[in-house]
Amino acid sequence: TQSFRLGVAGLGTVGAAVVRMVARRAATLSAATGREIRVTAVSSRDRDRDRGLDLAGITWFDDPVDLARSGEVDAVVELIGGSEGAAKAVVEAALGAGKHVVTANKALLAHHGAALARAAEEAGVALAFEASAAGGIPIVKALREGLTGNAISRVYGILNGTCNYILTRMELEGLTFEACLKDAQALGYAEADPTFDVEGFDTAHKLAILTSLAFGTALDAEGVSVEGISAIQPLDLTMARELGYRIKLLGVAQIAAGGIEQRVHPTMVPRSSSIAQVMGVTNAVTIDADAVGELTLIGPGAGGEATASAVVADIADVAAGPVRPAFGRPTGRMQPASRVEMQRH
Ligand code: HSE
Repeated sequence: TQSFRLGVAGLGTVGAAVVRMVARRAATLSAATGREIRVTAVSSRDRDRDRGLDLAGITWFDDPVDLARSGEVDAVVELIGGSEGAAKAVVEAALGAGKHVVTANKALLAHHGAALARAAEEAGVALAFEASAAGGIPIVKALREGLTGNAISRVYGILNGTCNYILTRMELEGLTFEACLKDAQALGYAEADPTFDVEGFDTAHKLAILTSLAFGTALDAEGVSVEGISAIQPLDLTMARELGYRIKLLGVAQIAAGGIEQRVHPTMVPRSSSIAQVMGVTNAVTIDADAVGELTLIGPGAGGEATASAVVADIADVAAGPVRPAFGRPTGRMQPASRVEMQRH
């Protein structure tokens, strides 16, 4: 079998889980793709940290851009995070060098996804990003491959595990916002800068990606109206409860007069609704489509193993080939979403 060599840039919670999973699932990956998939190179900021990984025989790069350009890798797995800086440099270098890219980086895609998709097309390589939205839920595949026969009118859901975890524990255990956030960080759910979680930007990034996939529009992260959960007080949760509601941070994208409306904000949902039952780090995405009707996917939205599950699925897709356009259609044909005034209901 022909080998398929991976360079993993970033060995945090997700990166370490990916390295372990590729080794653990080697036989299945080989059977599924016809390639012998293995990690041949890694790079991370801190070489000395003990991650419990066996890196014997794997080349270490101090500079991830060198890893991206290395002749030792066929695909680069970017798990550094952040929309600028090292992550962007690595992905651009990889595509420029004709390497496939698998990334979990929603911030990068939300801000630069159109240009990166174009660069990937020009290079004839894949840009795969299943792990960028809703963690372990295969929502990108569902929207990109599973619903082509449908016209979609709405996509909405709980897209940030950290926020849902905080809201759940605040409500059920009466803990403070700060204590819950600390725990979410300790569990590896939160972003490096947790402001992205609690102020709703992470949800907005994911929503922008889902919007583009669902509606075939150009990515428009700036067009998302955003309000996070940092101002929510325990009293708000108690009041909502007394009225028969729960508060959830939702991302919503739907067809509205004049274009696609995209918004993120805390929402009162009836306690009896299915979305109100989604607790802890779990995410949920509901799609309204004309042929299939309403479809809801529920699963872990963050965490090393769950996110690695999505990354490894992409690795298998890319290894098996052939290359398909990143957003399900050639980028040249994507029309920009028009922005509409936010409508609160
Ligand atoms: N910080 C993110 C979350 C990680 O809590 O959902 C997964 O994208």
